[in-house]
Amino acid sequence: MPCIVVVGAQWGDEGKGKIIDILTAEADVVARYQGGHNAGHTVIIGDEKFVLHLIPSGILHGGKTCIIGNGVVVDPAAFLDEVEELRQKGISVAGNLFVSKSAHLIMPYHRALDKESEKTKGTKKIGTTGRGIGPTYSDKMARVGIRISDLFDTQVFREKLEKNVEDMNFFLENLYKTEPLKADTIYAEYQGYAEKIAPFVADTTAMVNKHIADGKKVLLEGAQGTMLDVDHGTYPFVTSSSAAAGGACTGLGISPVKIDKVLGVVKAYTTRVGEGPLVTELNDEVGKGLQDRGKEFGATTGRARRCGWFDAVVVKHASMINGFSGMALTKLDVLDECSEIKVCTAYKYKGGELSEFPSELHVLEQCEPVYKTVKGWRKNTVGAMSMAGLPQEAKDYVSLLTDLTGLPVDILSTGPRREETLVLKTSF
Ligand code: GDP
Ligand code: IMO
Ligand code: MG
Repeated sequence: MPCIVVVGAQWGDEGKGKIIDILTAEADVVARYQGGHNAGHTVIIGDEKFVLHLIPSGILHGGKTCIIGNGVVVDPAAFLDEVEELRQKGISVAGNLFVSKSAHLIMPYHRALDKESEKTKGTKKIGTTGRGIGPTYSDKMARVGIRISDLFDTQVFREKLEKNVEDMNFFLENLYKTEPLKADTIYAEYQGYAEKIAPFVADTTAMVNKHIADGKKVLLEGAQGTMLDVDHGTYPFVTSSSAAAGGACTGLGISPVKIDKVLGVVKAYTTRVGEGPLVTELNDEVGKGLQDRGKEFGATTGRARRCGWFDAVVVKHASMINGFSGMALTKLDVLDECSEIKVCTAYKYKGGELSEFPSELHVLEQCEPVYKTVKGWRKNTVGAMSMAGLPQEAKDYVSLLTDLTGLPVDILSTGPRREETLVLKTSF
């Protein structure tokens, strides 16, 4: 199984960073395929906490090749800050971290447009991370984006920049009634980044394909989650990229036939940051309990994550879209104190029941959960050493999730640390 995609099954923050870190021990290469520094992937090693935004979580293992693919949008300042932070913590990035020359650059006008458009949307806002992700992908699709390779051709860079700044200023001044930006200032700032980013820039498409052809073990790291995928998520309350497994092909330049398997990272309950429907949301003490015990505060923006019970309709939808062969089930320990636990098995809608995830927002907004209630275990599962050693109710809960989703548990995570992980089936 040399080429594995790791994808979030829900609304992001499922624990992908931790799972990638665990799997990297066996891998040679880890490659990110979409998103930008809207992501926050947490890895805890010993007493040290790392939060990776752009750089693949595999970087924390020495000697592994880490790649940021063409499908990622790169804010060069954020990239360089992250590199510096890792260096200060003694993590080597020289010669093992590469960024695609075809990746699109996040520019200051993208950040400005992201923030201003959110302000004018009022109650209809998406709740973005404000990192400029949406406007950067919009420019990419509108064929006016600036790619990393453009940084190194000063004439091309200046021409594209001046045209874009002129167009974007029209919106900033006339639509959003805010200050225009200056192309000269941005030019100088970005030329400063060019020199610093140059040692990392590569033809990563050729690189990834060569690694696969050489039989290397390659992990393809997704950011966000399937329900934030621009096509298959809760549109328009999504991010602007293809977070699902399909994005790994376009975001790295890999043929679908080269991918051997897709592992879904699934949280034992549900969380979401930002706006948009969440059928199993708990606006009560139980939800607050999950938030507190799960430390459900965004790794990127620090915002509180909305919490709810496990939603099997969502995970089945994600499994269908991605073709999961199994799941890495995370944060089971967060349910340790619950006396009863609910699992959503279907949606109630207009007097009937839906078992498939509806694609229309207005339908989803009217859906209510159909719950199966099970007994909690009320015992500590943190760092469980074996499945057999789990309390019976916890074993039953894991079996129930497998029955409802059709997915075996390949990895069970019962704490944020590396050692709080049960690998039940080797991935490669
Ligand atoms: P990602 O974006 O999918 O990588 O996930 P985040 O890092 O944003 O959020 C997951 C959070 O849960 C982080 O704070 C992790 O340290 C933590 N975490 C991961 N797995 C577990 C687990 O099994 N149990 C607990 N209690 N925390 C976990
Ligand atoms: P990781 O990789 C959770 C959410 C935002 C917002 C929506 C659009 O850590 O799982 P954007 O800035 O992308 O245009 O915001 O997507 N969002 C995430 N939620 N985890 C993430 O990443 C997210 N990245 C974006 O909160 O609702
Ligand atoms: Mg996260």
